[in-house]
Amino acid sequence: MAALLTVAGLLLPDAASAQQADGERLFRQRCGTCHAMEAGQNRAGPHLSGIIGRTAGSVEGARYSAAMRESGVVWDRQALDTFLTSPRQMVRGTTMTVSIPNAEQRAAIITYLEGVGAQ
Ligand code: HEC
Repeated sequence: MAALLTVAGLLLPDAASAQQADGERLFRQRCGTCHAMEAGQNRAGPHLSGIIGRTAGSVEGARYSAAMRESGVVWDRQALDTFLTSPRQMVRGTTMTVSIPNAEQRAAIITYLEGVGAQ
């Protein structure tokens, strides 16, 4: 019964918001030390407000590697997924070395970033 309820839960339309809640928790644990979601608040890494559609290395006042500034990447879901899988493989010379090997966790984090950016 519990398993059935779990499956039903995944099929409900609000599954995306559940994933976003999960993404928020993961973001706080894995990204929040270095990244804020508020525009203008740069930590070790740039703020990630409005990251979807943003050109890589473009936040004023953030500390970027030359590799990131010159990457020519525009962040969308696919680019973020590739980056978070293995940052240094996608942007050779980046100073961000944190990766998220788990595809579901990556998807949850990206959904969270997307949701916050759209608010
Ligand atoms: C230890 C600190 C640290 C952690 C933890 C971290 N990052 Fe970063 N991140 C950075 C730094 C530093 C940069 C700038 C890299 C560069 O310029 O090469 C960066 C850059 C980025 C960028 C590119 C931003 C832009 O403006 O182009 C994205 C997207 C990003 N991080 C997402 C994440 C996500 C999502 C997480 C959590 C899964 C995360 N980061 C965890 C330090 C961190």
